[in-house]
Amino acid sequence: MEKLLTSWSSTVKSLPESYVFPVDSRPGDTNVPFCDTIPVVDLENALARDRQHAVQLILKACQDYGLFQLINHGVDDNLLHDTMNVVQEFFGMPNEDKASVYSEDPTKKCRLYTSTYDYENEKVHLWRDNLRHHCYPINEFIHLWPKKPTRYRDVIGEYSLQVGNLSAKILDLMCDGLGLGPGYFGDGLTRIQLFSANHYPPCPSPNLALGLPKHCDANLITFLLQDEIYGLQVYRNGEWAGVQPLHNAFVVILGHQAQVISNGKLISPEHRAITNSTNHRTSIVYSINPKPDSVIEPAKVLINKSNHARYRAYMFKEFLKTYEEKKNYNEGALEDFKIV
Ligand code: OGA
Ligand code: NI
Repeated sequence: MEKLLTSWSSTVKSLPESYVFPVDSRPGDTNVPFCDTIPVVDLENALARDRQHAVQLILKACQDYGLFQLINHGVDDNLLHDTMNVVQEFFGMPNEDKASVYSEDPTKKCRLYTSTYDYENEKVHLWRDNLRHHCYPINEFIHLWPKKPTRYRDVIGEYSLQVGNLSAKILDLMCDGLGLGPGYFGDGLTRIQLFSANHYPPCPSPNLALGLPKHCDANLITFLLQDEIYGLQVYRNGEWAGVQPLHNAFVVILGHQAQVISNGKLISPEHRAITNSTNHRTSIVYSINPKPDSVIEPAKVLINKSNHARYRAYMFKEFLKTYEEKKNYNEGALEDFKIV
């Protein structure tokens, strides 16, 4: 447990060498301005106008950015507040209260750890601690979740249920937008649902370290809830752009699988998390993933004479293996699956 940043980071004045990123991937100047063109989708209002309007807004955001902010999404404000609080409380507890979920075994279905799944072999450590667990169906996994704070299971159980339902709604709208048959994003593509909370303590040298390096998410889609502290950046048109924390919004981020299924019509954006020297930052990721044995391929209805398949079919577990082997996990895991 002594590896956890929360165990030692507040006692150091300078950044340990093992956290210093190479010159070409370190953030350097962290004062990147917010991107003011990232789409903000007001779900309730869009749906109130008409469903097709919501479909088109989401489709355009997914084509242009692969990422958008979702507001008026129907998940209760109090629940978002309680979720953020209970997660922050968790990371703030003394080590003895977190010990039961700490593990260095990446196959555990619930665990607290630091940096990546491969701490021992990674070139540079990441400036983050992470609590990650399966959460669908809840009954199969809830007994593995932290027992402390005492309301953790109740709050995160309800949160998982509501965000899981929201993800199904958004995927339905995307499905319509792409012209895929109803239910295309069914159980096989969405069954594995993960709750992943990132905790980024204040960092002595935010210009040299990273919470998460440049990456695309390996999954189908991510719903990210962030606190009010800035740290998420997206790589667009050859430069980094800040994603402004919006109160009670989800940042919806498409993963590699959405890009493949849409045959490249939708994009999976590269993004990263930077740190800062004064504030703790917490982000909560709800991640929708295919089953390991599900076959991922460009949807047949999107392939025709003028649009050939840009990716070959593969099993999701095959993709994950490649993704994890590309140690810096920003080095284009999709390259191996492209048809050229
Ligand atoms: C992630 C991620 C960004 C953030 O967990 O995959 O990109 O702001 N997180 O924490
Ligand atoms: Ni990510």
